Amino acid sequence: MKASAKDLAALLPSRFTLGVATAAFQIEGALAEDGRTPAGWDIFAARPGAIVQDHSPEVACDHYHRMPEDVALMKELGVDSYRFSLSWSRIQPGGSGPVNPAGLDFYDRLIDLLLANGIAPMATLYHWDTPLELDQAGGWMNRDTAYRLGEFAAIAAAAYGDRVTRWVTVNEPATVSTNGYMLGMHAPGETLMLKALPSVHHQLLGHGLSLQALRAANVPGDIGITNVYSPMVPASINPLDKLSAGLMDMAQNRLYADPVLLGKYPDTIRAATFFSSFSPSSEDMELISQPLDFYGLNYYMPTRVASGPGEGAVPKGMAEAMGDDLSGTAPGAPFHVASFPDTETTAYGWPIKPEYMGVALAEMAERYPLLPPVYITEGGASFEDLEIRDPEGGRIIPDERRVRYLADHIATAVEATSPGGAAESVELRGYYVWSLMDNFEWSGGYKQQFGLLHVDRETQERTRKASFYWLQEVLAARHRDA
Ligand code: NOJ
Repeated sequence: MKASAKDLAALLPSRFTLGVATAAFQIEGALAEDGRTPAGWDIFAARPGAIVQDHSPEVACDHYHRMPEDVALMKELGVDSYRFSLSWSRIQPGGSGPVNPAGLDFYDRLIDLLLANGIAPMATLYHWDTPLELDQAGGWMNRDTAYRLGEFAAIAAAAYGDRVTRWVTVNEPATVSTNGYMLGMHAPGETLMLKALPSVHHQLLGHGLSLQALRAANVPGDIGITNVYSPMVPASINPLDKLSAGLMDMAQNRLYADPVLLGKYPDTIRAATFFSSFSPSSEDMELISQPLDFYGLNYYMPTRVASGPGEGAVPKGMAEAMGDDLSGTAPGAPFHVASFPDTETTAYGWPIKPEYMGVALAEMAERYPLLPPVYITEGGASFEDLEIRDPEGGRIIPDERRVRYLADHIATAVEATSPGGAAESVELRGYYVWSLMDNFEWSGGYKQQFGLLHVDRETQERTRKASFYWLQEVLAARHRDA
């Protein structure tokens, strides 16, 4: 364990980027201001029961009005880079047609302020908030959405291309397809199960078309995609458990990484075209597998997989967080997610296994010989933080478990990719903490808090947690080559 800030700082390569991450819909609020029109998520979140305790994203962290204060906090923290996302319906209401100058202006100001404070902007084009009109036309089941995203990328490139240091085209397409199109737990709330496969391909195509648009605009910034990666661990040596873990690996990891990094879908998926009208052309595959400047990897946890119906489709804590009964038994399910024995979990019920951060990187290196440099574009943990009051009534938040999570994961990632490490061939360029502040955690509402900053839901006051001070110390203690 490298919880001492100085120990961790000593381990970091001199040009390693440490950043913090957020996404527009999770922090901005101001959903109907200055010309923004609804995203599919605005409508989905208003469905009774869709979000834990029916929390509303309407105000979120009010970042739209407090952006300068939030940048000042990042400056105080001392981070190298800030990963944020562009709200599509703020910039291009409806997802097609003319741009909204007020929406463009918000990110203009954000980017300028970041640069003035020495913070490199990493902009994500698509972090789940599809404009409502596009969702109504079928969302990612409709191929046209991919072209719309490509057009949006061209708009963003023209507006910010001169100043954005790193671009992420699409964030976690796996979560969008699984939660949004298969299981109905995220917008647009579809429960298509295996018929959701086109939503995978169209998001990847949206990535390819965005990448093409950014390249055509000659942006100087680096360009990548972000995929979530969870090593799949069979619950036992039983061949059925192994088979189940392999299927999960294919459905959650390879389905999204192979097309981008190998230019083809996994064979098992191609065999499954039987389930849908899914048949990608070679032109599509070329667009999807264009060379990247970096690969973004979100790592939170491994997944333990067992055959047969078990505790349910998702871990118990997560199901509870989402306020529904998904943790009940799933009769007839061929396999299920099982708990790791004797393992500490986050408030979401996610197992805390830092060693699998290294496994994730090693598996990526082994599978993808041409893997470009990697940024861990997200990593972090939700906890029900303890709040202590000082004599003046101020908040003190001693979130030592988050400190430990971050320290262990960052150290493991760096060690695994150092000479002699299990993923030594990976050029690891940085780690972005999810998240700068407690925010609207999708179906988990405000109950699942990942922030280095606590956000008071009534007053919007930001309070620095122990993890904020810890990261600040790491950043200050680093050795930086000029
Ligand atoms: C991944 C997503 O990109 C982000 O939006 C989310 O809040 C975190 N995971 C935590 O669940």
